[in-house]
Amino acid sequence: MTNGESTDLSGVEDPRYAGFPPGFFKRVDPSSDQNFYSEPRMVTHIDSEAISAVGELYQELQLTGKVLDIMSSWVSHFVDPPTDLTVLGMNEAELAENKQATSWVRHDLNMNPKLPFEDGSFDSVVCCVSVDYLVRPIEVFDEVHRCLKTNGVFVNSFSNRCFPTKAIRGWGQTDDRGHVSIVGEYYRLTGPWVDVRAELRTSSSALGDPLFAVWGSKK
Ligand SMILES: C[S@@+](CC[C@H](N)C(=O)[O-])C[C@H]1O[C@@H](n2cnc3c(N)ncnc32)[C@H](O)[C@@H]1O
Repeated sequence: MTNGESTDLSGVEDPRYAGFPPGFFKRVDPSSDQNFYSEPRMVTHIDSEAISAVGELYQELQLTGKVLDIMSSWVSHFVDPPTDLTVLGMNEAELAENKQATSWVRHDLNMNPKLPFEDGSFDSVVCCVSVDYLVRPIEVFDEVHRCLKTNGVFVNSFSNRCFPTKAIRGWGQTDDRGHVSIVGEYYRLTGPWVDVRAELRTSSSALGDPLFAVWGSKK
């Protein structure tokens, strides 16, 4: 590890990565995420219709109680925020600004996929427009599963936009349908999860950012 480069152990030690092509979890910019996310970005990464689609899905799934938002920022997109929302991400200023959060933690999931929470701590976990940045998604999904209560739901939502140099190469090399398959594969390889679903949550005829979601519940 030299000059701020993060250790990229993806695809090395866990046999569940064997089905992905070589280099799938590498990135154009392999340097530490701490550098890339050091300055706060008080922006939204998808348009207002896509943001509404995220909030509507969270409402439909009745995400209440104790909820964890991983790879979070200053916004979590809930229509009705849960009573207890922990947000985890890279930039302290963004996380501290999150008005829906009741607590926040700075944690680099690419350096250390282990979540700093007890087993069965959360009723649900969400990850919005960020799953494409994970270089060790299998370990992160394992950890989310561990931290969820039985029947707790894990929701991933994403669009067709990203920071291209920080997304894994496998994400950049495929399309919307491929992205849904990639995230579905993460659920298949971890868990056990039940009732795994994938949907386009914005109108297929809309001109704005599409919003896809894949979610499943801890068995
Ligand atoms: C595109 S933004 C999405 C933020 C937020 N979820 C939203 O819906 O607006 C990507 C987020 O992923 C987080 N992130 C990127 N790499 C990360 C890592 N290695 N560990 C934890 N969080 C990370 C960043 O802090 C950033 O807030």
